[in-house]
This record gives sequence, C-alpha cells and structure tokens, in this order.
Amino acid sequence: MQQEFWHNCWENDRTGWHQDGCQPMLVEYFPKFWQTPDHRVFVPLCGKSEDLLFFAERGKVVGSELSARACQQFFAENQLAYTRQAKHPFTLYQSKDIDIYQGDFFALQAAQFKPFDWIYDRAALIALPESMRTDYVQHLISFMGQKTRLFLLTLEFDQREMAGPPFAISAGLVHQLFAGFNIRQYAQRELTDKVFAQRILPLSQVRECLYIISR
Ligand SMILES: C[S@@+](CC[C@H](N)C(=O)[O-])C[C@H]1O[C@@H](n2cnc3c(N)ncnc32)[C@H](O)[C@@H]1O
Repeated sequence: MQQEFWHNCWENDRTGWHQDGCQPMLVEYFPKFWQTPDHRVFVPLCGKSEDLLFFAERGKVVGSELSARACQQFFAENQLAYTRQAKHPFTLYQSKDIDIYQGDFFALQAAQFKPFDWIYDRAALIALPESMRTDYVQHLISFMGQKTRLFLLTLEFDQREMAGPPFAISAGLVHQLFAGFNIRQYAQRELTDKVFAQRILPLSQVRECLYIISR
C-alpha cells in the first residue's frame, strides 16, 4: 500500500479497521505476560488505536504512524493534552506516557530508542501487501533486542474471497518471515460473524491468531 492510500483513508474517514475500545485478544492475553519490569512498548503503524491507552496504563508506549490526522484524532478523542514538536523527518506527538512519531515507519531508526520490552502488531503486518512484507518485517526486527517480545495478531482466511487489506497471513508465512526466531502460536479465535472492528469481512471463515515471537 502506498502512503497515498493511507492518507486518503484518513482524509475520507475510511478507517473501518479502527476498533472502539481495546482489542479483545490484547485484553485477554497480554496481562498473562506482563511482568513488573516490562514497561516499554513499541506499536508500529499504530493509527489511533485505543490499545495505546492500555499500554500507557502499564508503562511507556511509543507509536509510529504516517498520518497527522490519525495522531490528532487519537489525542482529541481520548481528551489527552499533548505537545507537538518537529524531529526531522518526523513530528513527535507526546503526552505523559505516549509518544507517537508521525511519519514513515521505514525512516524510524531503532538506534534512537532504548530497548523495547514488547512490540505490538495489530493490523500492521496484515495491512501490507506481499511486496512490502519482507521489508516491513526486517525493519520491525531491527527494533527487537535480545529480550524484546513481539505480540503479533494475524488473520487467516481464503484471500481469493476478498482483496486486501486486510491480507491473510498463514502460520507458514509467519515462520518464513520470522525465520530463526522463537515463534509460539499462543491462541486463536474464530471470528464467527466475520466482524473485524467496524467491518464485516465478506468471507466464509476468518480466524484471528496470536503469536508471541522472540529472538
Ligand atoms: C490498518 S491501519 C491499523 C492501525 C492500528 N494498528 C490499529 O490497530 O488500529 C494501518 C495504519 O498504518 C499506517 N501506516 C501505513 N503505512 C505507514 C508507514 N509507512 N509508516 C507509518 N504508518 C503507516 C496507516 O496510516 C494506518 O493508520
């Protein structure tokens, strides 16, 4: 997906992936993993996800988001005071425990951050077409220190039934993209009514899968 596509989505309020409230699998499973020293989370392609609030309640969260409109909506809709400053080539939106780097994820350098305890990918990998996946994962991996764990949510379905995004990501593809990493498929749930946030996906079956991935 070209950047123009996402800017258009935000300009025209076509943000059907946006979930009101927190992601159910995050709420159900993440507390099982959270340990006291874990307090830094990175959220690539974060949109205006309310999951940022979930992490901010537990520590510090850093998001990466292309759209200025998404960042502004996030802080306004959650009634959070924020500052905004230029950090070339980004604009940094900041409230107490939430930093969002507005700009291109691929230009964000892992070296500028202290190590993250967790990376949270919901509707990021599955938002990208095949041609971008390897580059995305390679860049994501650059943010993973020895102790960083990735909480990855994917969707499995028959891609022939629907043009993406979202795109189907099979277990085999996860293993291929993260070759050499420890990959645990931790949970899955059938989306029986095919509801994905604000969308009803035109699919016969769709399953959401949770992977925990580490070095
Ligand atoms: C499908 S949405 C998911 C947003 C969020 N993860 C959620 O769960 O609501 C994908 C998001 O990625 C953002 N995005 C796309 N390409 C990007 C890039 N190169 N750098 C940063 N953000 C990007 C889009 O603007 C959009 O908000």
